[in-house]
Amino acid sequence: MDAFFTELGRTVRARWQAENFTLSRFPEIARQALEERPPAQHVDLAALMRAFLLEDEQPFQTPSGFGQPELVVFDDPRFYIQILFWLEGTTDIHQHMFSGAFHVLEGSSLHSRFTFSEAVAVTPYLQLGQLRMTETRLLETGSTVPIVSGGGYIHSLFHLEMPSLTVVIRTHTDPGTGPQFTYLPPHVAVDPFHHDALTARRKQLLDVLEKVDDPGYPDLVLEMIGRLDFERGFFILQNGLAHLRQLGRWDEALAAFRTRHGALADGVAPTLDEILRRDGLAALRSSITEVEHRFFLALLLNVPDRVAILEMVAQRFPGPPLATVLRWAAELCEPTESGTWLVDAEFPAALGVPEPEQPEIFLAALGQTLGAAPTTPPVPHLAELKAALRRSSWKVLVA
Ligand SMILES: [Fe+2]
Repeated sequence: MDAFFTELGRTVRARWQAENFTLSRFPEIARQALEERPPAQHVDLAALMRAFLLEDEQPFQTPSGFGQPELVVFDDPRFYIQILFWLEGTTDIHQHMFSGAFHVLEGSSLHSRFTFSEAVAVTPYLQLGQLRMTETRLLETGSTVPIVSGGGYIHSLFHLEMPSLTVVIRTHTDPGTGPQFTYLPPHVAVDPFHHDALTARRKQLLDVLEKVDDPGYPDLVLEMIGRLDFERGFFILQNGLAHLRQLGRWDEALAAFRTRHGALADGVAPTLDEILRRDGLAALRSSITEVEHRFFLALLLNVPDRVAILEMVAQRFPGPPLATVLRWAAELCEPTESGTWLVDAEFPAALGVPEPEQPEIFLAALGQTLGAAPTTPPVPHLAELKAALRRSSWKVLVA
């Protein structure tokens, strides 16, 4: 048992008991306790890990798959304290069925808050509405943030260092605050704990047909989408997204979904496009380890606004923010076997530019797209390159 967290847990318990364990008081009690004696200043992490590995007298550990991993450092029937390790950068946009507060023990994170309005429940497990980001801020080591259960508190975190560690003081589950929706921007909320076994098996079977290049695959998927209800049709559509695009059948699949569900389908195409964009950036995340670059990736993932992105860059890095962004672009630009990429923008192979010349031309076109003064001589293929950048995550920064 770690002495610091035992003491912290006892303090929180005593203060909450004095408030009759009133749920609405818990986030503030947890936040205050973390701020009075910040774990980032008082915990000897190496000693804590050593003791956790060698001493058997530990708080009850849950089978939770959250965190990479989660260590429980204090447990009580009403709440517990966990340390979460994060090796990968990002959490989905989500809400909670628990309350409390979290504290950045090591590393730093970009934290975004959202609202979900005009919600329509298609089923208890899938809602449609408008997801909007309301705030993004950088949480440095030692920051503490309260958590309130339910749909009033929707957030996401992008951890900049690897590993990043958070301490969470949290209730077990707050009755009546579920489901713990995950949000697919800009329009869909799904319950990630809803398990529809038949749909899961159908997706796996479709994956088999995809892997063996079965010629019947696209027609089968289209037939399913034409018949299925909204929730299951959406998941089949999502599952086939990349492959149907490759086969050139994506527009037909979307049209079939639209024919079946009418106006209810309006938000589906932009949501699936955004899933594809986020998956692309998430794939880059694993290969990008430089903290500055991860910070920029986090901004492209989470902040849908040029002014806000440039402000965040200016806050953290000296000099004109646009110049900083262009420097990162140059550092991230590498010719690969699959062509030249600027983050998730691909240099159009059809332009016939020799590969060694592509990075310089692409970067010059990026500068022009983001608002730099025109050059003499002008950047070759500027219109086509601007179009390629506008199809990518750079679109948010277009001047
Ligand atoms: Fe969270």
